[in-house]
Amino acid sequence: METIKVQFTGRIEEEAILLAAKCLRQGGLVAFPTETVYGLGADALNKEAVAGIFRAKGRPQDNPLIIHVADWNLEPYVTHVPEKAKALMERFWPGPLTVILPKTSLVPEETSAGLSSVGVRMPANETARRIIAALGHPVAAPSANLSGKPSPTNFDRCVEDLDGKVDMILGDGQSIVGLESTIVDYSIDPPRLLRPGFVTYEELLEVDGRILYEEALTRVGEKEAPRAPGMKYRHYAPKAPLTVIVGSPEKREEEMERRITEAVEQGKRVGVLAAREQEAAYALKGVEFQSYGSAKNPAEIARNLFEALRRFDDLEVELIYAEGIDESGVGRAVMNRLKKAAGYRLIEV
Ligand code: TXA
Ligand code: MG
Repeated sequence: METIKVQFTGRIEEEAILLAAKCLRQGGLVAFPTETVYGLGADALNKEAVAGIFRAKGRPQDNPLIIHVADWNLEPYVTHVPEKAKALMERFWPGPLTVILPKTSLVPEETSAGLSSVGVRMPANETARRIIAALGHPVAAPSANLSGKPSPTNFDRCVEDLDGKVDMILGDGQSIVGLESTIVDYSIDPPRLLRPGFVTYEELLEVDGRILYEEALTRVGEKEAPRAPGMKYRHYAPKAPLTVIVGSPEKREEEMERRITEAVEQGKRVGVLAAREQEAAYALKGVEFQSYGSAKNPAEIARNLFEALRRFDDLEVELIYAEGIDESGVGRAVMNRLKKAAGYRLIEV
């Protein structure tokens, strides 16, 4: 298939928005920007179109999609919005928050992967909202990566993964958040945080103090099935095995240096992921250093993380060491993705 590719450099082009909406209306697939990561969209109410998403990504069939809306009328899609869920939407929408609610029969089983609930999000990105509004239906969209790879945060990574597999790829620059949305499940009581994101657990609790979070429930391979079906799959992973080092800054640096030196001595090509401030400390021959941003700025680290992981694939490193960061605020989401990328290979010093 010939993929139409359009990149905005400044102004959003109405013509391209209308073309994207036309592709979606005809049952096609369109990769588009959002503030979190790029999404691979289809008309959420068209089950054949939605099936195409699973094929293009190589996504397991039992992993439900979230639907993206551009206005506040959710009535056609969800049976009930609890008061606190409404309060969360009012505070964080449009933005990087997905709320899971009981769905109506208008949302096909293909979209929700057979579940009776559906995740709903109103993105802040204007390109995304204009496409959804032009279609006039919600857009079902997972992240626009091939299944298993880190989510794409720019146009080029979407092209790398999806060129020839989708009808259109639309870009408007780098995703400003860089990690997938925070997901809160309100189809159960008490509600649960299923995926930490840029909207932090602390911020959620300010609105609804009942929200539970257990990191173990989001882990791959735990005995109890994870609540978000997608959590059980290996995610965000670079090709080379990744190990995360956590602990106090001094001990971390010591352990990183020791391991990097050892690997280099064994003739391995080592990838190192750490704060910009650490670059000099880890500068060794045979080391590919990728900065994830400043140690003082977890939002910057969130924005850079997935692209840095994907660069290690380009660089064909054989193993990767990453320095962990503090788990408060946005740091919780960063560490959640980093640990998943590492398949939970974690060293505490
Ligand atoms: O920021 C985002 O959320 C991006 C952009 C494109 O909006 N989308 C995204 O979608 O990350 P995806 O499919 O890559 O991740 C959605 C996650 C999956 O882990 C899925 O299992 C979970 O949400 N999920 C979706 N519907 C659910 C439901 N009804 N109940 C529980 N988990 C659900
Ligand atoms: Mg994804």
